[in-house]
Amino acid sequence: MDTNLKQQAAEEAVTRFVRDRMTLGLGTGSTVYFALRKLGEELAAGRLKQIAGVPTSVDTERQAATFGIPLTNLRDHIPLDVTIDGADEVDDDLNLIKGLGGALLREKLVAASSQKLVIIVDESKHVTRLGSHVPLPVEVAQFAWQVQVPFLKSLGAHAQLRMSTATEPYVTDNGNFILDARFPGGIPDVRRVAEALAHRPGVVEHGLFLGMAHAVVLATVGGVQIMTI
Ligand code: 5RP
Repeated sequence: MDTNLKQQAAEEAVTRFVRDRMTLGLGTGSTVYFALRKLGEELAAGRLKQIAGVPTSVDTERQAATFGIPLTNLRDHIPLDVTIDGADEVDDDLNLIKGLGGALLREKLVAASSQKLVIIVDESKHVTRLGSHVPLPVEVAQFAWQVQVPFLKSLGAHAQLRMSTATEPYVTDNGNFILDARFPGGIPDVRRVAEALAHRPGVVEHGLFLGMAHAVVLATVGGVQIMTI
């Protein structure tokens, strides 16, 4: 993880994709933090005017308020113009794994309600095969969450309940649990896994974002690249 690269990706995305009077989806995470900070600076300096953001988590809502970014909601603004969000892994087709920060449900809903999804990452997140380095987060209902473990095993994954402390499970902003599903060697067929998860009772959302990103702003030590399809 390189904080400086995260900052470069975030600032480039704001400069390149955000304009006056836009409504924005505000993602979640340590890379998005720098985008929020940059948006706040641009607003304060008067270089950006009349933007409003929909936060994807309670954390982002707090940070946006700190940086003086006006907030709104999806009810009043569909579609949003642009969502800027981070990711845990990105492949060459701009498919993503998201959700290590726990905000995948709101992130996917906000992204799906946006005309453009711009992803900001440092080069450590760019992979050939999704699931190579990180588990796939799967948000599940608390009720009988245990039954999802053998289901995920049938898809080829070893799933573990995400914990907040040694004894307390992590609970999302939506009141659900998260199972982190690790696929040894990566996910061989992301469409098949996404399809299976979409139809599974008790699975509320999953962290595969397939065909959703319009651009990935990838910060490398050699400079910032814009990946598009
Ligand atoms: C949160 C996410 C984040 O976008 C993802 O985890 C990347 O976070 P970071 O920028 O801190 O590495 O999906 O649910």
